[in-house]
Amino acid sequence: MTDHILIDRAGETHALNVIRFNRPDKKNAITRAMYAAMAKALSDGEADDTVRAHVILGTPGAFSSGNDMQDFMAVAMGASKGEEVFDFLIALATVTKPVVSGVDGLAIGIGTTIHMHCDLTFATPASRFHTPFVDLALVPEAGSSLLAPAAMGHQKAFALLAAGLPFSGEEAERAGLIFKTVSVDELEPAVFAAAEHLAAKPPKALAIARRLIKPDPDLVTARIREEGALFAAQLKSAEALAAFQAFMARKK
Ligand code: COA
Repeated sequence: MTDHILIDRAGETHALNVIRFNRPDKKNAITRAMYAAMAKALSDGEADDTVRAHVILGTPGAFSSGNDMQDFMAVAMGASKGEEVFDFLIALATVTKPVVSGVDGLAIGIGTTIHMHCDLTFATPASRFHTPFVDLALVPEAGSSLLAPAAMGHQKAFALLAAGLPFSGEEAERAGLIFKTVSVDELEPAVFAAAEHLAAKPPKALAIARRLIKPDPDLVTARIREEGALFAAQLKSAEALAAFQAFMARKK
């Protein structure tokens, strides 16, 4: 297991399954071990009847800088298949309990697309939602090509996912990517208050309401797999390798 993901039960009745990124020196870049830990935490939380909501948090200044670049290289070189990412994404796309998330600062790549599966996301105004997939010669992932246009309409989804334009917290709120912007001091209190609010509701009725409101999970998981196949092919392309190498070499 990795200590780059912290798992905790919070709330008055320990009903909140809290998953927190804890790799601040790398801006919470997500490794395979971290995906595996998050997938397990979600499935453990789903199986535990005392858990009523999942909470996903980062650290001050960084929710996540996205997939770890070294791991991208490992998959590109054939050293890993990267199945841990899929296990996590399928777990996230199919949870039945509500998911509340909080963002301060960087939310890059999957650090942005995670929130498209969340039910209430709070972010600080200075947060930066950015998906530079195409700049890295990659394609949208995590079901974002389906979820983003449904949430924001084509043009905003295209601006974020294809043009790679960053959205501030406020722009993300206006676009419908997140629920609400709050100050840094208010961020975690707002996340926990929202999660506690949901945790107090009749769980079965909430699960049914959530299922009715969200896109069909079978469609979402099918899109995750479709995107994944295209993403994997692009990951092995010469243009993607050049982009990863440029990132690695940028400080030399
Ligand atoms: N994978 C691996 N390491 C990463 C990382 C990532 N996705 N993002 C940041 N890091 C590491 C950096 O290599 C650096 O490590 P070092 O101190 O050992 O050199 C550390 O985190 C801090 O990053 P740094 O680039 O120095 O900070 P910054 O504030 O100047 O920039 C980012 C932060 C996130 C904007 C920049 O690091 C970046 O663009 N990262 C890549 C993001 C990305 O493209 N993710 C994939 C999306 S599909």
